[in-house]
Amino acid sequence: MRAITQGKYGLDSLVLSEIPTPKIGSKQVLVKVEAASVYAAVLHLITADISLVRLFAGLRKPRMRPGQSFAGTVIEIGNEVKDLKVGNRVCGTAPGAFADLVVARAKRVAVLPDRVDFDEASTIPVSASTALQAVRKHGQVGAGQKVLIIGASGCVGSFAVQIAVGLGAEVTGVCRGSKKSYVRTLGAHQVIDYESESITGAFDCIIDTSSFLSIKQLRRSLKSSGRLVIVGSAANPGSSGLSRLMATALLSLFIKESIKAFTQSENKDDLSVLLEDLARKRITPVIAKKLPLELSAQAVEHFASGKACGHVIISPSL
Ligand SMILES: NC(=O)c1ccc[n+]([C@@H]2O[C@H](COP(=O)([O-])OP(=O)(O)OC[C@H]3O[C@@H](n4cnc5c(N)ncnc54)[C@H](OP(=O)(O)O)[C@@H]3O)[C@@H](O)[C@H]2O)c1
Repeated sequence: MRAITQGKYGLDSLVLSEIPTPKIGSKQVLVKVEAASVYAAVLHLITADISLVRLFAGLRKPRMRPGQSFAGTVIEIGNEVKDLKVGNRVCGTAPGAFADLVVARAKRVAVLPDRVDFDEASTIPVSASTALQAVRKHGQVGAGQKVLIIGASGCVGSFAVQIAVGLGAEVTGVCRGSKKSYVRTLGAHQVIDYESESITGAFDCIIDTSSFLSIKQLRRSLKSSGRLVIVGSAANPGSSGLSRLMATALLSLFIKESIKAFTQSENKDDLSVLLEDLARKRITPVIAKKLPLELSAQAVEHFASGKACGHVIISPSL
């Protein structure tokens, strides 16, 4: 089968290779990949721009092939897998998803509703799932609340805007000037250009995927009973966000606002909720670019350039 491999870290390291078809274990499934999505975590694993990545992904070179969140069709199941069958259309996460075939643990895979297509489904397991947990679980966003989403144009932020709007919140998105109209199409009621405008007003909840403002600055925009949810640090390339995470944990002991940094947990219930939202068009992933497997390097570079308005998809069947 064809798969993207890399012998070293870096954007220039992705190569299309021919490798043996992988064998599955008893709790795994083999999936024919129809779409795999590109987002920040995939980029971190390819480039090791965050040095901490090397600790678990390989010190000198990556141990795993690139790609993670995918959608496709099950073509083989392990003998202990009871809730999936050959022919199921599914999405999930597994290492090495930039390939014709991927081996996934059955518990990390969910069946797609009929009306959901593969491209859209491939954006759900990580980006939409993180957004759902940020907005609903940690942000406790509800109708009538004022919500600020920093990084509203990104993979996570674009879903966070739609989910918060769907819950009846009044949403202000923050992004670069050239993406303001894109963020408005996601449903944001106001959009702020981080390059030329400042954030004004007081919010019940702030969801921050970029960390371009300090926690002190963000607290000035929070109501006294407000909640700050820190998702990532896209504005600080190379930063693991660890120091911010520690500062958040410490500060949260002494202040009355709720501030929290979290890591997305894979959760089949969330995945089912999101797939149903997708089928009912309550959320819509925007696909900015779709490229064949052999152009994976180009797809990842396009994402890394920051120019994409929406998701970049790799499709082995193109
Ligand atoms: N906690 C978790 O479990 C979890 C899960 C997923 C992702 N993450 C992290 O969350 C972050 C976002 O992930 P993603 O996949 O959504 O990435 P993404 O698609 O690249 O989005 C990044 C967002 O940050 C904004 N941004 C970039 N530079 C900025 C700056 N200087 N000032 C203000 N905003 C800026 C971008 O705005 P423009 O494009 O408009 O410039 C964009 O909206 C990453 O750090 C990622 O590692 C964490």
